[in-house]
Amino acid sequence: MPDGVARDVDWTSPEVWSGTRAPLTAATGLAPAAYAGQSFFDIEQQHVFDRAWVCVGVADEIAGRGRMLVRRLGSRSIVVTRNSDGELRGFLNSCRHRGTELAEADCDVANTIRCPYHRWGYSLDGELIATPGFEDVPRDGFDRAAHGLHPVRVDTWGVLLFACLAEDTPPLLEWLGDLPQRMAGYGLDGWVSRDEQTLDIDANWKLISENFQEYYHLRWVHPELAKVSRVPDHYRYQGPGMYCGQTTTPVSGDARDEWLALPPAPELDSSDLVSGRFVAIFPNVLLSVLPNHVWTMRLDPVAPGRTRETCTLLLPEATGATTDEAVGPTRDFWVAVNGEDVDIVQRSQRGLTLGAVPAGPLAPRFEEPLHRFHNMLADCMTSASLAGLEVPRGDRIGVEADRWGSGVNPNPPTIELTELVEG
Ligand code: FES
Ligand SMILES: [Fe+2]
Repeated sequence: MPDGVARDVDWTSPEVWSGTRAPLTAATGLAPAAYAGQSFFDIEQQHVFDRAWVCVGVADEIAGRGRMLVRRLGSRSIVVTRNSDGELRGFLNSCRHRGTELAEADCDVANTIRCPYHRWGYSLDGELIATPGFEDVPRDGFDRAAHGLHPVRVDTWGVLLFACLAEDTPPLLEWLGDLPQRMAGYGLDGWVSRDEQTLDIDANWKLISENFQEYYHLRWVHPELAKVSRVPDHYRYQGPGMYCGQTTTPVSGDARDEWLALPPAPELDSSDLVSGRFVAIFPNVLLSVLPNHVWTMRLDPVAPGRTRETCTLLLPEATGATTDEAVGPTRDFWVAVNGEDVDIVQRSQRGLTLGAVPAGPLAPRFEEPLHRFHNMLADCMTSASLAGLEVPRGDRIGVEADRWGSGVNPNPPTIELTELVEG
C-alpha cells in the first residue's frame, strides 16, 4: 500500500514529519492521510484548532453592542459579544447549571445572556446574575461568583475576529508577527462588510489554503485572470508571523479590470495603491487586500474531505455605502475566480482520497509558502502546548526576498523599504 494511507501513524511524532522538515529543495508535500484521514483530522482539531488563534468571523459582525455571535471553534461552540463598556468577550456556549447550549445562532442579547432551559441569566461579562427559584431551598455553600460562563480568549485585528481556546498560546499580536505593521496603511479597522456567502466544499481545509498560497496554477486554472494578474508580477510579502504572504504589483487592470472598478481607500502609500496583498494567516483565514476592497475566506473544517468556506467582501469606510450595482462586478469577479479554485481543490481531494499515492515534491520556485505552512502545521502537531511556539521568522531582505519569487519587487511595501534603509 502507498505510505499515505497507513493507519497507525503517530502524527504527533516528529519522525513522521521528515519530508516537511527537509529544506525546501528536498521537501515533499503532506501525506494523503493529512487530507483524507479521520485520525489525522481528529488530532489536527485538538492540536491546531483547539489551541491556535482561529478566525471566527469578520470584525464588523461584532462592531455594535447587543449582538452575540455563535461560532464553532475546534471541538467547542463559543459565543462572542461585547460587554457594556464595548469590550469584546468570549465564552463557551454552555450554561453553568446543566450545560445547555445558550444560543443556536447569531442573535441579539440586550444586557443578559439567558439559558433557554431554566432561565439562568448571565451578564455580558459572563457573571451569573439570575437563578430563578434555585435558591428557594438553599444549597450548601452555593457561590454564584464561581458559576460564571467559562471565558474564551477573543480579539480582533483589522477586519478579522479571532478566538483561541488555549490559555497558554501567545497573544494574537505575537501570532500575527509584523502583519499589523505591514498593513497599517490600509486602516483596515474601520472597513465594512458588503457581501457574504457560504460554500460547502468537498475538500480538506488545507487544500483550499495551499491553493490560495501558490500561483503556480494560475495560468492553467485561471487563464483569464492570468492575463491581468501576471505570473511575473508576483513577489514575496513575508515578515515574521504565522502567515504566508505574497503580493502582486502592479495589480493590473486592463482586459479584466472588475477588481479595480471601485475607488481606492484614501491616503494609501505608493506601494499599497498599486498592489494586491494575498495572505494566508495560519490556520484558517485567507485575506486578499486590494487598494479598494478586501475579500476574506474563512475556512471551517467539517470533516477530512469537507470544509465550510465563508467569503466576505469588505470596503473601506469611505466607500462602504457604495450602491449594490457598483459593488457587483467586484463580487462577481471573486465568485468566478473562486469557482475555478473550488473545482480544482475538489479534484485534488478526490485524487488524494482515491489515489493516495505518497507525498510528492514541492516546486521550490512557487511552493515555498506551502513549505512554510506545512512547517507551522508540524510545529502545532508535534508540540505538547503552543506556549513555547516559535513564530517563524520572515525573509531577510536582500538575501531571500526574491529567492523564490520573480526578482526584486519594484514597489516594495513600506515595511521592507524601511528594513532596506536600516540594512
Ligand atoms: S441548563 Fe441552563 S438554566 Fe438549567
Ligand atoms: Fe487560484
